[in-house]
Amino acid sequence: MSNPPPLIIANLKANKTWDETAAWLDQVGKNLATFGGTAIVCPATAFLAAASLHINTEKYPLKLGTQDLSQFEQGPHTGEVAASQLAGLCEYVIIGHSERREKFAETDEVVGRKLGNALAAGITPIVCVQDKNVLIPQGAQIVAYEPTFAVGTGHPDTPENVASIAAAIKQKGPLTVIYGGSVTAQNAASFLKKDLVEGLLVGGASLDPWDFLDITKSSHI
Ligand code: PGA
Repeated sequence: MSNPPPLIIANLKANKTWDETAAWLDQVGKNLATFGGTAIVCPATAFLAAASLHINTEKYPLKLGTQDLSQFEQGPHTGEVAASQLAGLCEYVIIGHSERREKFAETDEVVGRKLGNALAAGITPIVCVQDKNVLIPQGAQIVAYEPTFAVGTGHPDTPENVASIAAAIKQKGPLTVIYGGSVTAQNAASFLKKDLVEGLLVGGASLDPWDFLDITKSSHI
């Protein structure tokens, strides 16, 4: 059984100025033509509007995602960005990333509220789960298996374990399952070759546009 064309997501986290983000978009956008899957970039929230305009003007084959959105809807929530304010700017949102669960005390309840707000705003949530027992909220469509030990450590999970967790997650509903955690251009194909692993969420290795492009190319192997 072969997988459909993959989703490859660049999570730029709190990295890059606007100029660096624009240069990344140019390098990736101009060189993605042969990639048959869906490439999604998640830049810093501050640059979403500029990135959206840039991608649309240049007609780059890139989709835009946000790294987070508020658990609240519009109102007196200083510093927050509501899902309804992001609608139209981006198509995807990463929710429940381990860095947000750990550093910003994000609970399953908060993750559920964010997912509901995203769906109401027409933004597709990418829900990160750190193991197969983490709650997958109702309405989730894309689930990223991202074990904490592998995120940003240089120690990815094994493709075999990723495949077995993907199978366990798929038992819970009609979900697209992707993997993230120390994915590189060298190991990307080993995950994508596994049945049920339909994409990758890439942090550190996505920062260099050429490395990110290499990762998209590995889906052809
Ligand atoms: P990493 O991060 O690729 O640097 O491990 C993945 C992620 O945080 O989504």
